[in-house]
Amino acid sequence: MSKLRAIDSLSDLSGKTVLLRIDTDVDIENGRIIDDTRLSSAIPTIEFLLKKGADVNIVGHLGRPEPVLSSKYKVLSINNEFSLKSIAHWYAKKFDGKVEETKIGDFPGWKITDRINLIENVRFFKGEEKNPTTASGLAFARELALLGDIYVNDAFAVCHREHASIVGVTKFLSSYSGLHLAKEVSELSKILNNPLPGQRPSGPAARRPLAVLIGGAKIETKLPLVSKMHHVADYVLVGGEIAEQTRVLIKVQHEEIKGPKSAVLVADLREDGFDITPKSIENFKQILGLAATIVWNGPVGMINFSDKIDSEQGTRELAEFIVSTKAYKVVGGGDTLAYLRRINLLDNFDFVSTGGGAMLEFLSGHKLPGLTPLEK
Ligand code: 3PG
Repeated sequence: MSKLRAIDSLSDLSGKTVLLRIDTDVDIENGRIIDDTRLSSAIPTIEFLLKKGADVNIVGHLGRPEPVLSSKYKVLSINNEFSLKSIAHWYAKKFDGKVEETKIGDFPGWKITDRINLIENVRFFKGEEKNPTTASGLAFARELALLGDIYVNDAFAVCHREHASIVGVTKFLSSYSGLHLAKEVSELSKILNNPLPGQRPSGPAARRPLAVLIGGAKIETKLPLVSKMHHVADYVLVGGEIAEQTRVLIKVQHEEIKGPKSAVLVADLREDGFDITPKSIENFKQILGLAATIVWNGPVGMINFSDKIDSEQGTRELAEFIVSTKAYKVVGGGDTLAYLRRINLLDNFDFVSTGGGAMLEFLSGHKLPGLTPLEK
């Protein structure tokens, strides 16, 4: 892909307001943020923009709420599980601020410091998820774009979504990539630049074979990615809910692919359905042991499920095995990062991507809609 327009190229931003899209989709339990990797990833960009003199209006989303608000945003605080209120408090702590409810243009949100505001979950608004080439999608994007003089995208994990805050706003504002997003693209490109399946590794940079381990839910996002991965990976291992629900579809996909393709292994599930079988764990380890690069997104069993049933065995054993290998290890996705942080293994990975679906989509060679408008 071509190079992205980076914020490093911006000089003085005094008097300007930046509309900054970041990844705020984190696991929250009883108001407590379980893993803040995604939130921390935006800090260098926020600091950079402040240093250049800009004020920053931050946009983010959490989960998949039903959009409830139409074009007039009268409700100032939406008190439910999808509110970004705890995110506002997290940033206030980082930037020595104090959270105050406020209106940012027509949008509800919070003042975090005199120079930083956070807008309430952008997915509360009808229009965010509408295709930004349609009239209603474009109208919403225009309203969002009023909140900044320039737009910076640091939300790699959402770059595979053609949403107003990712794609639509770029039609109205000069647009740049944030520091975190630029790093994701440059690190993940290194894997893409390695030889394709079936080709011999050449030189020290070649890290083949490449094994991709896909688990978790979000089946509609991940099923097409299993098939796209054929063009990139040597092995594709599938566990979790996606293995349970789409075993047959994955087999059909596999048969339909012509020419060179990766070997695909779909895990068997235990009788209770909450984890993969010990035999599948062993089979996966054997293949992962052959890999020189491992990319992982999604737990293979139900994590955080019950204290009484061990449904984490597969995910835990594979995590321990992966970190024990000499392979170049890349991991991504909210649930996977939160779990690895909990069992203290996250730091053993060579690169931690904030993207789950976005990371796999990028590695499958697909152009992410959020990146195209940022290209030079
Ligand atoms: C993610 O968690 O992968 C991103 O936040 C995107 O979320 P989505 O699948 O709901 O669009």
